[in-house]
Amino acid sequence: MTVLLTIANEKGGVGKTTTAVNLAAGLALRLAEHNGVASRILLVDMDPQCHALLSTAFGAHNAERAESLSAVLTETPPPSLQRMLQPSQHHANLFVIPSQRDGMVEAARVLPTLMANESRLSKAIAAILPQFSYVILDTPPNTGDLLVNALVASTHVLIPVETSYLGVTGLRELQRTIDAVRMHFRPELRVLGYLPTLCDEQRGETQEILAEMEKRYPRQVFPPIHKSTDLAYAHSAHMDIFSYRPPRQRTDKQIASSSRGSQEYALLVEAVLRLTWKQAVGN
Ligand SMILES: Nc1ncnc2c1ncn2[C@@H]1O[C@H](COP(=O)(O)OP(=O)(O)OP(=O)(O)O)[C@@H](O)[C@H]1O
Ligand SMILES: [Mg+2]
Repeated sequence: MTVLLTIANEKGGVGKTTTAVNLAAGLALRLAEHNGVASRILLVDMDPQCHALLSTAFGAHNAERAESLSAVLTETPPPSLQRMLQPSQHHANLFVIPSQRDGMVEAARVLPTLMANESRLSKAIAAILPQFSYVILDTPPNTGDLLVNALVASTHVLIPVETSYLGVTGLRELQRTIDAVRMHFRPELRVLGYLPTLCDEQRGETQEILAEMEKRYPRQVFPPIHKSTDLAYAHSAHMDIFSYRPPRQRTDKQIASSSRGSQEYALLVEAVLRLTWKQAVGN
């Protein structure tokens, strides 16, 4: 069964997109050769800003509206997702669904007026799932219908949390949304874990905040992602960290380079594989 993992946090700028892009790329690299076959990964960018697409398949962020994600969400019947799938520019087994800013803004506006507005992505994506072992969904920083569509389609949620006091306390709205999706659509939806992001070792309170997270979410906190110029520069260069700072020699098992950002996201990839691999290979 395909693992569908939504990256969500109602707060803006906490590293959702950075995490979605690098997790999808890392999984693509790790699973490029599995029993002689490449496992395929799909990245779905539910944010009208399309920043995840910018870093994964430049150009796919500016598609014709009729041939893009917004049409899938709003038209009845929806256009075929199969025909829309586009390969990423850095990894042969990583694919995206083209999107476009204005179309997605409009979709967010009209979705509440449409029938079955919460489950449109879930229904449309079902037909293409057998081709993918992992689907990673990036979401916008609010709890509207675009996030709800991602959650209703998903098996798991991963929550990046900015390593600050506010970051740790500000997840109430997201938790309510997850609870509502569980109650009405997906009782099996599981929080895979919390990822401390933008972690700054120079700040004295960092250890205290990480301890507080561990206390709040026991055994659910992933190893932290520190602030790194490589991660910021990779983002500006529209690349994932593994393509931006590749190792001299790469094997399927060793995807990271000497760059700390690539090592930390590689650890996240391993943790996600450990927690979900059994479900993914049942595919
Ligand atoms: N670990 C990091 N080190 C340095 N810069 C980072 C790191 N993580 C994210 N950033 C930068 O912080 C900014 C916000 O990150 P990102 O876009 O991933 O957050 P987001 O949660 O997706 O934001 P939004 O809510 O607007 O979609 C970006 O410019 C990104 O390059
Ligand atoms: Mg984002």
